[in-house]
Amino acid sequence: MFTAARLKLTGFYILLLALVIGGFSLFLFRYTAQHIHDSIEEDTPPTAAQQRSADRAVDGLQNTLVTSDILIIVLASGFAYVLAGRTLEPIKRSHKAQMQFGANASHELRTPLAVMKMENEVFLRQAGTSLEASSLARSNIEEIDRMAGMVEELLLLARSSGDMSLKLTRVDVSAVLQRVVGKLKGSAVAKGLTLVFEGPAQAYTKGNEQLLDQLCTNLLQNAIAHTDAGGITASILVQKKIHITITDTGSGISKEDLPHLTTPFYKTASGKRLNGVGLGLSIAQEIVHRHGGGLSFASEVGKGTEARVTLASFS
Ligand SMILES: Nc1ncnc2c1ncn2[C@@H]1O[C@H](COP(=O)(O)OP(=O)(O)OP(=O)(O)O)[C@@H](O)[C@H]1O
Ligand SMILES: [Mg+2]
Repeated sequence: MFTAARLKLTGFYILLLALVIGGFSLFLFRYTAQHIHDSIEEDTPPTAAQQRSADRAVDGLQNTLVTSDILIIVLASGFAYVLAGRTLEPIKRSHKAQMQFGANASHELRTPLAVMKMENEVFLRQAGTSLEASSLARSNIEEIDRMAGMVEELLLLARSSGDMSLKLTRVDVSAVLQRVVGKLKGSAVAKGLTLVFEGPAQAYTKGNEQLLDQLCTNLLQNAIAHTDAGGITASILVQKKIHITITDTGSGISKEDLPHLTTPFYKTASGKRLNGVGLGLSIAQEIVHRHGGGLSFASEVGKGTEARVTLASFS
């Protein structure tokens, strides 16, 4: 993320410098060339020899200016790159600190949540617990599970968007998607939905297997959660790039909601009804981003949604 920003900033500095010295050189060239021609035409019309030597001087000036401009720009490129790095350094540091804080806080929250859940479970198993108390403990456990899910998602978001090193290897994304389809088939079938995979047996990309698994899981879980009848198709098409498409026949997403889906904690009305946390797609976006890919959605209310992911193909 910061490398791209640094390169963009470097390009911007170089462009600015090129405009300034280009403009200055043009002005200098015009002024000096005019001055050379004026000086030989001062009294009498110039001889052919005088004209030739004036033209040579103007050509020489032009070559010198162009060469020196190119040289200055080349030398300044390195300086611009260093300068861009320095400019971005404080932003990079604060982003890292923020992500580190998120990661630490989420990590620290795991243990007390696990303890609370265990205590509630022990309480439930005790003989003589009244009906009212056990229903309270069950509701506590549900809320703790929800919170634990949110903490896990926040931790993943902080880890994947932080500057922590991401191990990229050759990954068979088709195998990953097929595995996730297998993992979630039970929950689809339980709702009376079909869940099928379509595509080649293998499709290689350069990425992080665990994060790609999370990406497919988040998209498929959404599709299952928001579909009440029909089914979900998880497909892969390999052309120049790898195109993953998750198509559902669910509730669909309105045009107003579409641009905001990947904003952290953004939920549509149906998402609110389903008690979603609103982080799944922000994480999906971050994962795709870290793989240099793209994520987009096409949807029609009442008909269904198509989530499209594009990843680089790797032989
Ligand atoms: N396939 C889909 N069909 C309809 N609505 C969807 C679909 N996918 C996502 N949405 C909507 O987009 C919103 C954002 O999705 P996101 O996955 O980020 O959050 P969530 O599912 O509510 O919570 P979680 O963090 O548990 O995934 C949700 O509120 C959901 O309603
Ligand atoms: Mg979700």
